[in-house]
Amino acid sequence: MKTLIDLITEQVTNAFTGQGYDAKYGKVTLSNRPDLCEYQCNGAMAAAKEYKCAPFMISDKIAQALAENELFESVESVKPGFINMKVSPAYLAKYVSDMKADEGRFGCDKAAHPKTIIVDYGGANVAKPLHVGHLRSAVIGESIKRIGKFMGHNMIGDVHLGDWGLQMGLIIVELKERKPDLVYYDESYTGEYPKEAPFTISELEDIYPTASKKSKEDEAFREAAMEATSQLQAGRRGYRALLAHILDVSVTDLKKNYDNLNVSFELWKGESDAQPYIPDMVQMMKDKGFAYMSEGALVVDVKEDTDTKEIPPCIILKSDGASLYSTTDLATIVMRMQDYNPDAIIYLTDQRQSMHFVQVFRCARKTGLVGPDVELTHIGFGTMNGKDGKPFKTRDGGVMRLEYLLDEINEEMLKKITENQKEKENLDISEEEAKQTAKTVALAAVKYGDLSNQASKDYCFDIERFTSFEGNTGPYILYTIVRIKSILKKYTAKNTLPDAPILGAHSASEKNLMLVLSRFNAMMENAYEEKAPHKICAYIYELANAFNGFYHETKILSEEDLKVQASYIGLLVLTKNILETCIDVLGFSAPDRM
Ligand code: ARG
Repeated sequence: MKTLIDLITEQVTNAFTGQGYDAKYGKVTLSNRPDLCEYQCNGAMAAAKEYKCAPFMISDKIAQALAENELFESVESVKPGFINMKVSPAYLAKYVSDMKADEGRFGCDKAAHPKTIIVDYGGANVAKPLHVGHLRSAVIGESIKRIGKFMGHNMIGDVHLGDWGLQMGLIIVELKERKPDLVYYDESYTGEYPKEAPFTISELEDIYPTASKKSKEDEAFREAAMEATSQLQAGRRGYRALLAHILDVSVTDLKKNYDNLNVSFELWKGESDAQPYIPDMVQMMKDKGFAYMSEGALVVDVKEDTDTKEIPPCIILKSDGASLYSTTDLATIVMRMQDYNPDAIIYLTDQRQSMHFVQVFRCARKTGLVGPDVELTHIGFGTMNGKDGKPFKTRDGGVMRLEYLLDEINEEMLKKITENQKEKENLDISEEEAKQTAKTVALAAVKYGDLSNQASKDYCFDIERFTSFEGNTGPYILYTIVRIKSILKKYTAKNTLPDAPILGAHSASEKNLMLVLSRFNAMMENAYEEKAPHKICAYIYELANAFNGFYHETKILSEEDLKVQASYIGLLVLTKNILETCIDVLGFSAPDRM
């Protein structure tokens, strides 16, 4: 379906051209004075300069030309030359009815030319527990992937595990100290390696931090770890077998953690998967003269004439011949182009990696790893701060493990839900259901708390505010959905859901609800274009408020005119479906009651 704003723009543009003015002046926007009108056009002001007359002469003509148009309830020309419009309630009701009939899409068409888009998010590091820093990447990436899917694109999420760094050598060396007799350390061994991992996840979780600590205090240990890392990277058999075990155990655990966040990946590739692509890629960069030696390292220049700040060369190989984070990312691009030929790759990491991605993207383009049509985008997000304005930490100042953080919020939520139930004397909720509900609401609190901020901004992780049932929060949105579900349940206990059209507005609050509903498709397209989940959050907050305004002013279940009641119920169904679609795209869901 065409968006309402496009339909309005068409009419206004026609009016401009019909009066002999250029079409470009017919641009329409949402009103910034909702007390005066719903949509506005300021084109007469600009046109006045070109046609050398007073702006209101033009706005008067346009208003007159649109006076009889069925789309509008009123079109006013206001000095000095504004065109203020209100949409006709009948037209709006028809539009909203059509949206309701368009099941599952609500007027939002899928992309005519679907793209293949890889979203590189999550970015967990193997053997290291997920910490709050990984939360944003997972939450925002998952939502961007789902937005793209909703718009009909072929979205491929890749967790891009960090499985190729020094942490692997650290684990190998620490494990050797604990279990020196393992066959993996015997270089003369040529047989098969055991299927079973020589450690559990809890052992592994203890091995890494211990090793990491040792490496800071003990030079010899650190060197041994570096040596083990480079032997692993050079392909030492026993170490490769250990890597496979580490990956296995770690991925099982990571999947569980991401499941709890309602985050899932199509691909579980890692940095190690890109390694086989490095030699040919490096050779090509040398052969074509892109890569050259500088201070012992192999580099590719990526600065451009228009740069306003210094962009250092992209280092491909260090002086000892070892590859780096950027080498791996470049080789991953080679692998992805070969396997999926994507139209775009989107990366989600902390903003502090921006320079890395500028270098990698420029190098990939310059050396022809991607053609000019492939879009490479880095979405760098800001820091998640505590209430003190500093990066979020545990009470004793350590890095907060994601698991513990979620547990804390689940508990907080369970308390609230239980209290709520007592207040409502609605004690028939079992402990099991209360726990499940608390989990669902807690996840909404965390995700909405994050996603409602523009990704690039830092934000304050404020559990108290996020878990509140009032204000711009996840629980408030869920509460609104639950409220609608409960009305519909009462209604369907006696009636079947009507398939009736939505009638024109009976009140200002009903019209407002319809106006907000009608913006769904334009909002969704825009959220996709700008990869901006926060726009969906802002929209559902507005929609929830519009619904609650309508609800408080309207007798729904006791409405006697059955046609009007059926129309109200239609609006409720549409509101609920749109809210549920939006939260699904944001990556959370609503319980049946709370
Ligand atoms: N593992 C990295 C980290 O923890 C993030 C990886 C992001 N993706 C990428 N292709 N570089 O910082």
